[in-house]
Amino acid sequence: MHETVTINLQPLGKTVEVTRGTPLIDVLHEFSVEFPCGGKGTCGSCKVKLLQGELEIGPVQQQKLHKLKLGKEWRLACFCKAEQDITLEISQFDNIILADSSTFDFRPQKGFGIAVDLGTTTIVAQLVNLENGHVLDSVSDVNAQAKYGSDLISRIQNCLDGNFEELKTLVHRKTGEMVQSMLKTRPFNISKVVVVGNTVMHHIFSGLEVSSLSFYPFRSPCLGTQKFTPSELNWELPGNTEISFFPSIGSFVGSDILAGIAATKMSGREEFSVLIDLGTNGEIVIGNRDKIVCASTAAGPAFEGAKISQGMRATTGAISSVDFENGELKVHVIGNVQAKGICGSGLIDIMAILLNREEIGMFGEINSGDKKVKITREVSINQQDIREFQLAKAAIAAGTQILLKQLKITYAEIEHVFIAGGFGNFLNIENVIRTGLIECEAGKIVKLGNTALIGAKMFLFEDEKFIQKILDKTTHINLEGDPDFQDIYIEKMMLD
Ligand code: FES
Repeated sequence: MHETVTINLQPLGKTVEVTRGTPLIDVLHEFSVEFPCGGKGTCGSCKVKLLQGELEIGPVQQQKLHKLKLGKEWRLACFCKAEQDITLEISQFDNIILADSSTFDFRPQKGFGIAVDLGTTTIVAQLVNLENGHVLDSVSDVNAQAKYGSDLISRIQNCLDGNFEELKTLVHRKTGEMVQSMLKTRPFNISKVVVVGNTVMHHIFSGLEVSSLSFYPFRSPCLGTQKFTPSELNWELPGNTEISFFPSIGSFVGSDILAGIAATKMSGREEFSVLIDLGTNGEIVIGNRDKIVCASTAAGPAFEGAKISQGMRATTGAISSVDFENGELKVHVIGNVQAKGICGSGLIDIMAILLNREEIGMFGEINSGDKKVKITREVSINQQDIREFQLAKAAIAAGTQILLKQLKITYAEIEHVFIAGGFGNFLNIENVIRTGLIECEAGKIVKLGNTALIGAKMFLFEDEKFIQKILDKTTHINLEGDPDFQDIYIEKMMLD
């Protein structure tokens, strides 16, 4: 039996119990804290103030803290483990941190707002003080529609099969409960709620017909912003609260990606950037201040753990990283508990290790002839999991190549490749490159957490003009419509 310790998190006013020795990144990740430099100790964005208890500082962290000019009450969460009961203040919640680890310059407003990232798999919501931009609470939960399938196609199919009202009610109720849970001890007057999500979530939440998303040319006439009153959603908020589901860019590129574009500041830069969201539906965006192209891929939810025999989200019990040291596999399990399954970042690591050790061939076949590769006593991946990975990585790699071609540029002209996704904080960039998922130098890749949530918080402060400016320069590309797509897709299935 593992010993546990408690971590009290301020300003959230929440206490969590974790196994002694749990890395703080595992805990804070669940509350949507971002780790912009990926734990290198250079950005300082993960800094926490130690209000009570002890958190050991090793010499490397000491040096980093000194360089960042942080006093003795500060720690870098990416370096720390909880060895005893502690109380921490999360400094990042004082600002909205953007993709390049700069802070968002907001226009103060009166009142409080709530930003919601309505994902196919997970819903995340944060309560924001609109006067100073501080995040006061952060909650996440599984999308209650998950029982109707893990991917968008099954959700659409279920709507068409007569379950539309049920799916709509489930998501209204779950999101409403999350909003209420943040207001339980704080009877704040919420003036606005911004919801972002993919186009299918947008349509179901808004009560819009999804059938147009189910057949070629997959074009919906209702991509715009949808506004609601609390009573329409059965939410217990003041009647004048403005609730908006932000506009989609295309049939399968939603406002979560619009928010991602805002969070990366791509639409204001001269240089080209790429945003790859490895969520349930893999989306790719490439562009600069003049032109942006985007597409959704058939990557499916492999990186979110669905369709992988022992796959799971990046949450407690998930193998989030794997290393090969001294002749054996070493895993990191989120929450420092026994492994229950593997999440996207762990899957990428194990694929890279198998390739490096030539345990799988270029077609993904397990060379030993075995049906499975054991990762721990409890968790293994099988031949079908490897196939799912190949399909997902091929979809992303081929999609990126088609969009680069559309812009008539190459990876050499790209300044940054931002990777978003629930497991972003745990990604090993070298392994992302080794598997061929992204084909550029490591130095260009910036791993991110939830860009949709960052963007949704920005939208609390922005007006329609800001959104329209991004929409005006963004074109949605149908990848399958490109004559080269199939050939490139098959080529990218290969592992070498
Ligand atoms: S210092 Fe950048 S994530 Fe910790």
